[in-house]
Amino acid sequence: MSIAYLNGSFLPLSEARISPLDRGFLFGDGIYEVIPYYGGKPVGFNLHMQRMADGLASIEIKCDKSIDDWRVLMEELIAKNASLNENLGVYIHVSRGADTKRYHAYPENVEPTIFAFAFAIKDPEPVDRDKVHPYSVCSTEDLRWKHCNIKSTSLLGNVMHYQQGYAAGENEILLFNSKGELTEGSSCNAFIVKDGVVITPIQDNQILPGITRRIILDSLRADGSIPVEERTVTMDEVRNADEVWISSSSKEIAPVTRLDGKAVNDGKVGAVWEAAFRIYTDHKFEY
Ligand code: PDD
Repeated sequence: MSIAYLNGSFLPLSEARISPLDRGFLFGDGIYEVIPYYGGKPVGFNLHMQRMADGLASIEIKCDKSIDDWRVLMEELIAKNASLNENLGVYIHVSRGADTKRYHAYPENVEPTIFAFAFAIKDPEPVDRDKVHPYSVCSTEDLRWKHCNIKSTSLLGNVMHYQQGYAAGENEILLFNSKGELTEGSSCNAFIVKDGVVITPIQDNQILPGITRRIILDSLRADGSIPVEERTVTMDEVRNADEVWISSSSKEIAPVTRLDGKAVNDGKVGAVWEAAFRIYTDHKFEY
């Protein structure tokens, strides 16, 4: 049985309750994180918690927990859920809290609601281009809002795009802005490879500052064997890429071999993916 954390207590997930006046429920007024733990070890813990602190500050939610408080809390949650699986994801959600009425302006003197639970995640994929499960994706215009850099619990825009891909039988959907420039996927960041260079859109308000994206860029730069660029990526470049990848805490780096019903390059997982995934896998616990 999954054990959750809610406002200071651990309890069975099925017994956790919040008020219907919680602003997370009424307005999607909150910030969340998803952190992967493999064999009890987190990937990018400090980076995830810093992103959450930045998100909370940007929408003026005051939460007095330090990164160390969070670390201790999450370790306890992981320990309580160890029987679920060897590898666990932790979902953390901080909403502005439950007010006494429904009113748009930020209320004063309302305590944030803090909720977390753990769930089983898959084993990492093999670092082997012949064995990894590739993704097939479609694409569409990015119709979300202009604060995609905030990891907000208001995810309807993302959910609608994800559903569009899912209903079409695809594993994900890539998004392009109105100028035809790549932004990200509905629940992941996106990369292309051209002539041996790994290229990903710059981190601005059109994309989530993904922690996996950050670790990929930092570990590849530290290794030095694969050049990386952060810049605008056009639709043409995506369609003519040698490789396309998507990244997230649950997918790590996933190769995409089909886009909009056509093969990416020769339709096989690329050699740069394998080399980059090797570097990422060797160094991910250092972040
Ligand atoms: N999704 N972009 C979007 C829109 C995302 O929702 C996510 C993650 C990412 C990748 O971020 P990270 O590498 O920090 O996981 C990019 C999470 C996992 C989710 O909503 O479940």
